[in-house]
Amino acid sequence: MKIGCPKEIKPQEFRVGMTPNAAQEAVARGHEVIIETGAGLGAGFDNDAYTAAGARIVDTAEEIFATADMIVKVKEPQAVERKMLREGQLLFTYLHLAPDPDQTHDLLASGCTAIAYETVTDNNGGLPLLAPMSEVAGRLAPQVGSWTLQKANGGRGVLMGGVPGVGPAKVVVIGGGVVGTHAAQIAAGMGADVTVLDRSLPRLRYLDDVFGGRFKNQYSTAGATAELIRDADMVIGAVLIPGAAAPKLVTREQLSTMKPGAVLVDVAIDQGGCFETSKATTHADPIYEVDGIMHYCVANMPGAVARTSTIALGNATMPFMLALADKGWRQACQDDPHLLAGLNVHAGQLTYYAVGKALGIDVVSPNVVIKS
Ligand SMILES: NC(=O)c1ccc[n+]([C@@H]2O[C@H](COP(=O)([O-])OP(=O)(O)OC[C@H]3O[C@@H](n4cnc5c(N)ncnc54)[C@H](O)[C@@H]3O)[C@@H](O)[C@H]2O)c1
Repeated sequence: MKIGCPKEIKPQEFRVGMTPNAAQEAVARGHEVIIETGAGLGAGFDNDAYTAAGARIVDTAEEIFATADMIVKVKEPQAVERKMLREGQLLFTYLHLAPDPDQTHDLLASGCTAIAYETVTDNNGGLPLLAPMSEVAGRLAPQVGSWTLQKANGGRGVLMGGVPGVGPAKVVVIGGGVVGTHAAQIAAGMGADVTVLDRSLPRLRYLDDVFGGRFKNQYSTAGATAELIRDADMVIGAVLIPGAAAPKLVTREQLSTMKPGAVLVDVAIDQGGCFETSKATTHADPIYEVDGIMHYCVANMPGAVARTSTIALGNATMPFMLALADKGWRQACQDDPHLLAGLNVHAGQLTYYAVGKALGIDVVSPNVVIKS
C-alpha cells in the first residue's frame, strides 16, 4: 500500500501522523511511505529521519492526497484537505464528526473510507487511541499547575513538594480516570499531598490497590468536593461522562471559599469544563484569574509537548495502521471488531450511530458495509 502523511495545517498543531519509526515498520513490510516535506519538524523529526527510515519526501500535500492509498494524520482534515480526498481512499486520523456537520458532509461527498482514532475500542471498554493523549494531558496538568502556582504567574507562591520544615502543596484531582490517575501520579511524584475524587467505586478500589500510600482517594460528592477545595492549592478537573458535557463541580460562588491564588487546571475543558468559571484558553495565553483564583484551561494540552505526544500517539496507532496497510481496511476491520468500531464513513455512507444521531443523518451498520 502507498501510505501518505501530510503536514498538519490546523493552527497550533505541531504533531505529525507518522513517526520515522512507524514509517520504517511500514517500509519493512513492503509498503511505500511518502511524507510531506517538513511534516515532522514540529515534533522534532526532520526529513532526513524519514529518508533514513525508507520513506520518500514529497513537496506538497497535493501529491500525497493525489497518490496515497491511505492518508495517516493527526487532526481532522481541514476544508482544503477534504477537497483533495478521493473515492476509495482510506483516511486514518482523529475526526470528531458529531459536532462538525461540514466535515461530515464533505467526507461523505468525497467517497473516501474514514476510520476515526477516537472511536476505535479495546477489550477493556477503553478508547486506546484517545488514552495516550489523556495520559499526556494528565501528566502535564501538575506541571502547568505548579508553574501557575508561582507568585509571578498569579499563584499562591507555593512549592509542590514544600521543603524540610514546610508542608507540601495540597492537590485535589476530580475524576480518577486516565487523566486523573496520571495527574495524581505526577503531583505525588513532585511531593504534593494529593487526593483523587471519583464516583466509581471500582475505580476507587483500583486506585487504592495500585496507588494506596502514594495518594489518597475519596468518593466524589458535592460535600466532599466543597470541603477539599477549601484547603487546596491546586484543583485538577479530570471528569468525563461519556457523550455528555462535563458536569460543573465547582461553582463561581465556591471560589470565594478557596485560598487566594489557588489554581484550577480544567483538563475537561474540551468537554465544556468542570468548573463554572472555566473558559477555553490557548497555549499562547493559557491562564486567567477569576475572583482571585487562577485558571488554566487549554483545550489541546498535548500540543504543548508535541514530540512526546506524537510518539505516544504513534505507538498506539501503529499496529492499526499496519493492519490496515497489510490487509486493506475491509479485511482488517473484519478481523478486528475494535478497528471496525473506528469506521465512521465509507463510500458516501455514515457508519457511526452516535454521529448520525447527533447530525440527523441516516446510518448504515458497519457490519453491513464491510460485507458489501
Ligand atoms: N484538555 C486537553 O487537552 C485534554 C486532553 C485529553 C483529555 N481531555 C479530557 O479530560 C477528561 C477526562 O478524560 P479521561 O480520559 O481521564 O476520561 P476517563 O473516562 O478515563 O475518566 C473520567 C473519570 O471521571 C469520573 N467521574 C465522572 N463523574 C464524576 C464526578 N461527578 N466526580 C468525580 N469523578 C467523576 C469517572 O468515573 C471516570 O473515572 C475528558 O473530558 C477528556 O476529553 C482533555
